[in-house]
Amino acid sequence: MAMGVSLACFVIFVFYVSALSVQASFLYHGFNNSDLILRQGASVEASGLLRLTDSTQFVIGQAFNPNAHQMFDKSSEPVLDVSSFSTTFVFAIVPSSPGSPVGYGLAFVMAPSTTFPGAASEHYLGLFNSSSNGKASNHIFAVEFDTINGHDDPQNSKGNHVGINKNGMRSSASETAEYSYYGSDVKTEVYLDSGDPIQAWIDYSRHSKVVNVTIAPTNVDKPTEPLISYPINLNSVLKETMFVGFSASTGTETSFHYISGWSFAINEQAPALNVSQLPKPPKVDISPPSKFNPLLTVVVPILSAMTLMGIWFLASLFRRRLRDDSLEEWERDCPHRFGYNDLYKATKGFKDSELLGSGGFGSVYRGVLPFTGSEIAVKKITRNSTQGMREFAAEIESLGRLRHKNLVNLQGWCKKKNDLLLVYDYVSNGSLDSLLYHPKHNFVLNWEQRINILKGVAGGLLYLHEEWEQVVIHRDVKPSNVLIDVDMNARLSDFGLARLYDHDQVSHTTSVVGTIGYISPELARTGKASKTTDVFAYGVLILEVACGRRPLESDIFILVDWVMECHERGRILDAADPKLSAVYDMNEMEMVLQLGLLCSHYKPEARPSMRQVTRYLNGDDQIRSVHPPNYSQVTFQSSSGFTQFIPPSSQTSSASFISTSIDLSR
Ligand SMILES: *[C@@H]1O[C@H](CO)[C@@H](O)[C@H](O)[C@H]1NC(C)=O
Ligand SMILES: *[C@@H]1O[C@H](CO)[C@@H](O)[C@H](O)[C@H]1NC(C)=O
Ligand SMILES: *[C@@H]1O[C@H](CO)[C@@H](O)[C@H](O)[C@H]1NC(C)=O
Ligand SMILES: *[C@@H]1O[C@H](CO)[C@@H](O)[C@H](O)[C@H]1NC(C)=O
Repeated sequence: MAMGVSLACFVIFVFYVSALSVQASFLYHGFNNSDLILRQGASVEASGLLRLTDSTQFVIGQAFNPNAHQMFDKSSEPVLDVSSFSTTFVFAIVPSSPGSPVGYGLAFVMAPSTTFPGAASEHYLGLFNSSSNGKASNHIFAVEFDTINGHDDPQNSKGNHVGINKNGMRSSASETAEYSYYGSDVKTEVYLDSGDPIQAWIDYSRHSKVVNVTIAPTNVDKPTEPLISYPINLNSVLKETMFVGFSASTGTETSFHYISGWSFAINEQAPALNVSQLPKPPKVDISPPSKFNPLLTVVVPILSAMTLMGIWFLASLFRRRLRDDSLEEWERDCPHRFGYNDLYKATKGFKDSELLGSGGFGSVYRGVLPFTGSEIAVKKITRNSTQGMREFAAEIESLGRLRHKNLVNLQGWCKKKNDLLLVYDYVSNGSLDSLLYHPKHNFVLNWEQRINILKGVAGGLLYLHEEWEQVVIHRDVKPSNVLIDVDMNARLSDFGLARLYDHDQVSHTTSVVGTIGYISPELARTGKASKTTDVFAYGVLILEVACGRRPLESDIFILVDWVMECHERGRILDAADPKLSAVYDMNEMEMVLQLGLLCSHYKPEARPSMRQVTRYLNGDDQIRSVHPPNYSQVTFQSSSGFTQFIPPSSQTSSASFISTSIDLSR
């Protein structure tokens, strides 16, 4: 333990010292638990592979090292020169299905920012668009590894090419992808879209102002002759601080773009990669497309379809006998899939001793993955049918790409007979619910921790609502779905799961998903979840955190109404949690209580967006004062509509609607 801590400190120390002497470097062997900034479709797979894009059309995927690198070498004054730099990485471009055309390429990128507003996919690789393309104000340097010849590429270049680009997609230099050694005339072409791992080296020298690019399959020695050695002065291209990373995109044609390892250094050679230690990209077997022949194209398919059906039938019987979790055809496109045996071992066979809890969606087990030793949480959902599995899987694949520091990341999934297993990051400090209401050893969350948790939940919700490629409605925001990590940061769990169930429901059944006490009046009436119904639930959560009381403690105690009463009497601080012993910033407490009331306002249009909530919490905006008399009247009206949802005998507020209103077996 102590060893581990001191080792971690040592690594950080080395980094900072080298940063001061204008040398900086980093090295990733796989991207497990890496600090990469992932944008748009990019995600890190369970194997540690960074996947920039998948078979989705017209997507962009980007990943950046989080450090802004100081690119100008102050020691070179009076002329300020861009420092020498060096990078090497291993990538693979895997066609979406064997033999199909691929699109598009990927690029190593140096840019002043990690976001590219308005940038287009396809040929623009997520970096430029038709109006920004070629503008000197972009300050972007890129080396593209492209599989399709774009209109900006030199006429003589083939689809399979490597190019050096500054500020746009028109390459300053471009070559067919190949490698060679000095003293030999042989040039060997490297098929970028072969799906095989390919290593690339890019070096820039401040003294000679030349950039060299070299590529080779990972199973041969590093070529001694660079593919491109191009004189370029980057002084006018790069800005003082730059981010480095990768960008890739797809179009109508798609392919999986993977990076398995990467190193980078300024003013020194990039650390060498040990290729044998990198995660392997998935294998494809590319069979050549068949030639057209009328007889073959009509008769053979019919015959072979019949044969195949027979074989398939027999094979599926056998498969079911042999291994229940064997892959079906469509599952091969699901890189987040885990092996059942690994999860079984990890959780000691789903032993009760490993049970972390049970909730509306199933039981959750703690696990330790064999081989890696990394801790996971496995949610087991039992369904009575495997219908709709494919849609389920597609949804999970999409949820698996959500990545945010305030979310419990979904690492992957597995199905076995009727069990669906969802694999999540393990978060060690339990739920906010248990910390607020059942703390161990009389532990009391202090005000600073509470504010930090509220900000964290807001950050996670903001990401789901506004910052990801699609809007994700959580639908079950409540303290038991907020997990607290070792640093006491909040991480939202169970997001998007409700949406999974939508695929499983016939559309005419509108089940209310959510938990009593957190369901907004309009959600109760219409069953329609939206961003504002999430904000309502978040408002209730704010009040719980500030007051230390549950939303409904008995048939007559309704937290929102009680806080409103305190507010009306001009004594809103009376609502503050007495366990805090008045140790808090009064203005901040008042702001938080008011924000709770505003978010849980009965009128959806009165509730702020999560972005606005974040601004209030950070003190960027002053909360507008809610006018008590009018407001309370309507709140009281609303609360009658809201309480009629409480079963008469209900004593606790945590009875989840999900378990009662959704029949998982459907
Ligand atoms: C990353 O984690 C996966 C399993 O989660 C493991 O198989 C792989 O070996 C790990 N990679 C590295 C480089 O540690
Ligand atoms: C093109 O990109 C620029 C910035 O790079 C952005 O301001 C502009 O809105 C984009 N144009 C379109 C049509 O998206
Ligand atoms: C680029 O390649 C040339 C030719 O091999 C070599 O002389 C030069 O040192 C290389 N420059 C860098 C920055 O690696
Ligand atoms: C690369 O990793 C392998 C396996 O971990 C190890 O045996 C080998 O010595 C390493 N090579 C280098 C050059 O470090």
